[in-house]
Amino acid sequence: MKVTESYDGAIQRTIYTPQEIAAAIERLAARIASDFRGQPLLLLGVLKGALYVVSDLARAIARTSDGPSEVIVDYLCVSSYGNETRSSGEVRLLKDASESVTGRNVVIVEDIIDNGLTLEYLRALLDERKPAVLRSCVLFDKPYRRRVDIPLDYVGLECPDEFVVGYGLDYQELFRNLPSLAQLQPWVFHS
Ligand code: PRP
Repeated sequence: MKVTESYDGAIQRTIYTPQEIAAAIERLAARIASDFRGQPLLLLGVLKGALYVVSDLARAIARTSDGPSEVIVDYLCVSSYGNETRSSGEVRLLKDASESVTGRNVVIVEDIIDNGLTLEYLRALLDERKPAVLRSCVLFDKPYRRRVDIPLDYVGLECPDEFVVGYGLDYQELFRNLPSLAQLQPWVFHS
């Protein structure tokens, strides 16, 4: 696909503005900061999609007045969608975390949950390593096609049953840097 002009012509509608996303991040940060007040916290972002969520969330937690004693940010990288709009159902670990999670307070940070297989895979992987606490934070919850019942501790915004891009989410690696969450024009998928 070629996007030769700006992203504007490719966007059918904005679902959440950057301001609405920022407000949701602040709410998530307040809850996480309160739950881990005075304790060390490891935020584990799931790349690539969570690149903005985890960086904005970490800084929002730092702005809270009485939060964790320390926040460490780490990443792992998985993929299940490849270049498709539907999940393959097979989750692949492309890069593991650098930090040990054993005995630590860990919050997995995801941009979106759809069928839930990615988070199920990650929770199982990390549970085996015996963290002290393992929680899940998801900015966009798409509950319509869930295939597994996954506990979500922190949820930001409900996402409609559409293929969405922006704020970390891509279509064929494009649109991740769109500051809003948006639905694409149908022509984008055929070009
Ligand atoms: C997306 C998203 C989640 C996962 C959620 O990742 O970032 O990790 O899909 O989908 P699920 O609940 O249906 O499993 P993707 O595989 O597209 O990789 P990316 O983050 O690198 O874009």
